[in-house]
Amino acid sequence: MPASLVDGKYYLTYEQIHATIHTLASRISADGFDPDVIVAIGTGGFIPARILKTFLKKPILTVGISYYGPDNKPAKTPRTIQWIDEVEKKLAGRKVLLVDEVDDSRVTLEYCLRELLRHGACEIAIAVLHNKRKEKKGRIPEEIQRYYAGQELEDRWICYPWDAEDIAEHSKRAEAL
Ligand code: G4P
Ligand code: MG
Repeated sequence: MPASLVDGKYYLTYEQIHATIHTLASRISADGFDPDVIVAIGTGGFIPARILKTFLKKPILTVGISYYGPDNKPAKTPRTIQWIDEVEKKLAGRKVLLVDEVDDSRVTLEYCLRELLRHGACEIAIAVLHNKRKEKKGRIPEEIQRYYAGQELEDRWICYPWDAEDIAEHSKRAEAL
């Protein structure tokens, strides 16, 4: 289903997102990728990762990485807010599905992928709910062969239901199509 555009921004409901992730999970399985663990990039990746778990039935580890500073402006480089305890033990030799809500500049994703590779993950696949069609600043390391996006969107701001202060108004916009 196409995403609803209101005043130049995309709006999506939890139900639309759930359906997109269901299809995404089926594609990952059909492609033969069977991860040992899901790694969610917080905070945007938390809810998509949790929905993926419903279908893939794999445990979730979370990492906190932020590209935005306290003033809400992009920092020079992403910062690690929180990393997995005993990463080496938990990731070495494992197949990881790295999950985030949006592939935008790709800078955070690249940073996180390099950290996972450094900690010895044996295979990493990327799953994002949305990929924005645009020129990317970050690069996916060539070791990584599998990339799955639930939906491809134009380069516009995406309003997620978990950011809505007024969920009824948000849903109205998302259902405006
Ligand atoms: P990328 O590598 O995944 O492309 O992420 P990038 O560093 O470009 O993203 C910077 C921040 O901007 C991320 O949040 C990302 O979630 C957020 N972002 C980018 N585009 C959109 C959008 O269209 N809508 C919304 N709602 N957020 C967007 P973050 O700093 O990691 O924080 P958090 O919100 O995940 O906690
Ligand atoms: Mg994020």
